[in-house]
Amino acid sequence: MKYFLDSAKLDEIKVAYEQYGFDGVTTNPKHIMNSGKSFQACLQDIAAYVADKPSFPVSVEINPHLNDATQMVKMAQTISKISTNFVIKIPTNQQGIIAARKLEQQGIRTNLTLVFSPAQAIMAGKVGAKYVSPFVGWKEDYGDDGLQYVQDIMNIYRQYHFDTKVIVAAIRTAKQLETAAIFGADIVTCALSVYEASFNNPYTDLGLETFQNAWDNTKTD
Ligand code: E4P
Repeated sequence: MKYFLDSAKLDEIKVAYEQYGFDGVTTNPKHIMNSGKSFQACLQDIAAYVADKPSFPVSVEINPHLNDATQMVKMAQTISKISTNFVIKIPTNQQGIIAARKLEQQGIRTNLTLVFSPAQAIMAGKVGAKYVSPFVGWKEDYGDDGLQYVQDIMNIYRQYHFDTKVIVAAIRTAKQLETAAIFGADIVTCALSVYEASFNNPYTDLGLETFQNAWDNTKTD
């Protein structure tokens, strides 16, 4: 399973790649806003950093106001020219599906995002999107079971041999991350803080304390 960082902050992207060896990045308009940079400047900085990392994909979302496939395709083409690492995030709706199909036919990789049902994921698979992103955390924020539909998507994709890779997105806890892995998710994406919290465990801390006591009380020569 691959780990993608969900952020547009260059300092976090560097930590994810250089310290943890993560496999890619996903961004969205919120992350770009939080980078404190303009859309163009943010993309240029990320593009420069990943220029010598050909197998490190970075998902970049088109203008969310676009509601026409032709305009979506046009903007996706412009973004994809900035870096060969860029994968274009397209909203999963009727126009987005049409746009993603055209883009994949042109060799531009897409990430069909904002997926909240298996039916949407099936269509992403059928048009040959490179990635599909179900948003676990957003469903759970509204009291729905965010992981059940991920399991359904995984089962459907296996059954019909879709090549589209599932990025389980908006993960908020280590438990959600583990469950996504148990279901066989190809990729998870979440904030650096969620990953870093998942590296720790209170039993590890307790064990360390036990060993520190033993170390300190070991007979010396
Ligand atoms: C995924 O590709 C999205 O960027 C994402 O996970 C958004 O969720 P958030 O609410 O955690 O930012």
